Amino acid sequence: MDADVLRSRLQHLPIAALRYYDVTGSTNQDALEWIEDGADEYSLVVADSQTAGRGRMGRRWETHPGAALAFSLILKPREEEKPCLSLFSPLCAVAVALVLINVYRLKGVQVKWPNDVLIERRKVCGILVESAWEGDSLLGIAAGVGINVLPEALPPDEQLLFPATCVETQVGKPVDRIDLLAAVLGEIMAWRPHLTTGQLIQTWDRLLAFKGEAVRLEHKDCVVSGKLWGIAQDGSLCIQTETEGIQKFYFGDVHLRPEPFCD
Ligand code: BTN
Repeated sequence: MDADVLRSRLQHLPIAALRYYDVTGSTNQDALEWIEDGADEYSLVVADSQTAGRGRMGRRWETHPGAALAFSLILKPREEEKPCLSLFSPLCAVAVALVLINVYRLKGVQVKWPNDVLIERRKVCGILVESAWEGDSLLGIAAGVGINVLPEALPPDEQLLFPATCVETQVGKPVDRIDLLAAVLGEIMAWRPHLTTGQLIQTWDRLLAFKGEAVRLEHKDCVVSGKLWGIAQDGSLCIQTETEGIQKFYFGDVHLRPEPFCD
């Protein structure tokens, strides 16, 4: 990967500007700083490796050279999208999942609420959306996507919080990271108008993992067990519990596991 090759192979997409790093700390951090320096919508940061990649809930996200796709796309939410800011993460998850299904012809692709992409119940992609603010005015968001492409991208077993896999193992042949990047960016852009139409939520719900299964959800200090019902029209996760009926959970500090999974 290098900046010139990336620019030429992404030229069919409306990328405003591109920064490529062989090594960086975190593409999300780079993107947030770039937003503060005035980056335009659809500016893109791509790195071959990250030394301080960030995951959800303050976790680390390792990115080893040549093994993964790590990028952050800068978006400037429009007025009508501002009430739906929490949907930018599922937007990216749905885009990655649909590319794996429709371009790479993979089966068993699902989204673990809110936004981990799974293949055959193993995590292949994580998403972290962060925002840059000036006072209470939103400057922009960094939609950070990390996809395991080669087996070398996977964390060692002892660090795994959830079973993991990579695209090449599932596809069974070499996968070009720039083709994958171009397809995912195109899909994010194509689905963005559906942030506000309800169609994104419907597709997210259709791709939802563990539907109808017993799950355990850790939320702040409490653990809720029940049957995973689906995603409501407001993007919340609905769990049918024995004692309280259907309970809704919103995006935030929530860990979701299928019930037999122990961590
Ligand atoms: C998670 O599953 O915890 C989210 C992982 C998000 C990782 C990506 S890699 C590109 C971007 N830059 C970061 O520092 N994090 C995101």
